[in-house]
Amino acid sequence: MVIIDGKKISQEIKDEVKAAVIKMKSERGIVPGLAVILVGENPASQAYVKSKGKACEELGIYSVTEQVPATISESDLLSMVERFNNDKKIHGILVQLPLPKHIDEQKVIETISPAKDVDGFHPISIGKLMIGIDTFYSATPYGIMELLKRYKINPSGKHVVVVGRSNIVGKPIANILVQKKEWANAIVTIAHTGTKDISYYTKQADILIAAIGKPNAITKDMVKPGAVVIDVGINRIDDATTKTGTRLVGDVDFENVKEIASAITPVPGGVGPMTIAMLMMNTLKAAGGKI
Ligand code: GUN
Repeated sequence: MVIIDGKKISQEIKDEVKAAVIKMKSERGIVPGLAVILVGENPASQAYVKSKGKACEELGIYSVTEQVPATISESDLLSMVERFNNDKKIHGILVQLPLPKHIDEQKVIETISPAKDVDGFHPISIGKLMIGIDTFYSATPYGIMELLKRYKINPSGKHVVVVGRSNIVGKPIANILVQKKEWANAIVTIAHTGTKDISYYTKQADILIAAIGKPNAITKDMVKPGAVVIDVGINRIDDATTKTGTRLVGDVDFENVKEIASAITPVPGGVGPMTIAMLMMNTLKAAGGKI
């Protein structure tokens, strides 16, 4: 059984992006630039934004973080996005979600220039992904694809069962994996809250992707021996034995499922660390570079 090391792979990717950034700067005089907009003071969002800025700094990517109060009007926020759309030093724009209720999130996403949509949330990016045209993949599905590739787990001809149909994980990963392409070409099933007997489907999976948002939702009896298990869940549960009184777990009962899986991602340290690395990769791509 292989424990898929997202921390190690994400570092590998960041090292590759860093090298590509240096090359880009010396050969073409271009420094990739990322603008991050944070609205309000949600602590989780603040932490994410901080780590994105730190990753940029480590990789030689120029970054601007604009923190604005939660009371900002929708039109002012849209103007800020427009300003970055027109800023030549900025190649990627990310508006940290969620946004306050008085702001229409979809409208903000659709104001970001698709050429700078490093989050991959714009309907144009999602449409391209669905019909197999090169585009920005959002961080989580892109991270899953890289983990599979770098662990030489080829989904071609395999049955992938995705549990969860969110717009940022379930739907895009299913659509990437079903493409008639190398390292895709899978048979894909999406199970979701409308599925009566989830385990009927999960037991058929050669590759099981859990993006449910519920601790221990996938138990050993739901997994086929030898399956590859990708756990996208990040759930905080009570644990009196830790300093904080809580601990992070995924959607998969890791301790038991690892007994029968051929490969499995842990939480933390699996898919999670990949997301920032993929954002960095997308920023490099937006600036016209690749690894
Ligand atoms: N909030 C949680 N994850 C994300 C993400 O990947 N991008 C943005 N913009 N906001 C988020």
